[in-house]
Amino acid sequence: MLADAVARAGVEATYSYGGRTRAPATQPLPTRSGGFGGASGLAEYIRREKITDVIDATHPFAVEMSRNAVVACATTGARLIALERAPWAKAPGDTWIEAADPSSAVTALPLERARVFLAIGRQHIAAFGARPQHAYTLRFVDPPAGPLPFPDADVIVSRGPFALESELELMRSRGIEWVVARNSGGTGAHAKIDAARELDIPVVMIARPELPDRPRVESVAEVMQWLGHRTCLGA
Ligand SMILES: NC(=O)c1ccc[n+]([C@@H]2O[C@H](COP(=O)([O-])OP(=O)(O)OC[C@H]3O[C@@H](n4cnc5c(N)ncnc54)[C@H](OP(=O)(O)O)[C@@H]3O)[C@@H](O)[C@H]2O)c1
Repeated sequence: MLADAVARAGVEATYSYGGRTRAPATQPLPTRSGGFGGASGLAEYIRREKITDVIDATHPFAVEMSRNAVVACATTGARLIALERAPWAKAPGDTWIEAADPSSAVTALPLERARVFLAIGRQHIAAFGARPQHAYTLRFVDPPAGPLPFPDADVIVSRGPFALESELELMRSRGIEWVVARNSGGTGAHAKIDAARELDIPVVMIARPELPDRPRVESVAEVMQWLGHRTCLGA
């Protein structure tokens, strides 16, 4: 949506992928992929490419990218804005056990064996090796590259957004008793939370990591307003 709006406005822009997904979605903008070599590498890129405006549209749990953007923009003088969807709030009927981070989510799970839908990114799976007794259902965009840290793993390879009906079917068919999720916000990943509420399944909800203070908005329209359609600029 953001890339479409930027392309439609005729802003000269580059879409920078983290490079984690093997077949990323196509974009209506020129793309590049992969790291820069830390904040200093990103600053060098910003200077070399004469970037004037940086839009941090990363996932709320992609902390390194966001931190690097803050430092690189402060060093180079490029303007920075974060497009960040609002976190989910607990609704009536939800049973949430709030966890500060993935390690706390592990200890929030019961000790006796349970069927757990581990609906979190690959980066946060390792900590769950500390509770190998559970039967885990996991969902990734790409198949896992190596072994998982627990023996009973049912891996689904699929890309969101997901609908309520399919989330209900997934949880019912596997007899899911616990859901572990990150508070990503937005609509595309929320159906699992609705499904858990409907099935009366507890959700261990991992809070967002702390990020440096930076200007942030929640909608594409606000980003476009901030950009001001200054088509001579490189975003
Ligand atoms: N984290 C998640 O749960 C999650 C979920 C869904 C989607 N995603 C998306 O997946 C991508 C990777 O997320 P992540 O959590 O793996 O990231 P991350 O841990 O925050 O950062 C990974 C590395 O990406 C490089 N990088 C920094 N800024 C970049 C940029 N503008 N473009 C390309 N690479 C950059 C940096 O490497 P160098 O130090 O070498 O520069 C950084 O160390 C992001 O686009 C994110 O929005 C993440």
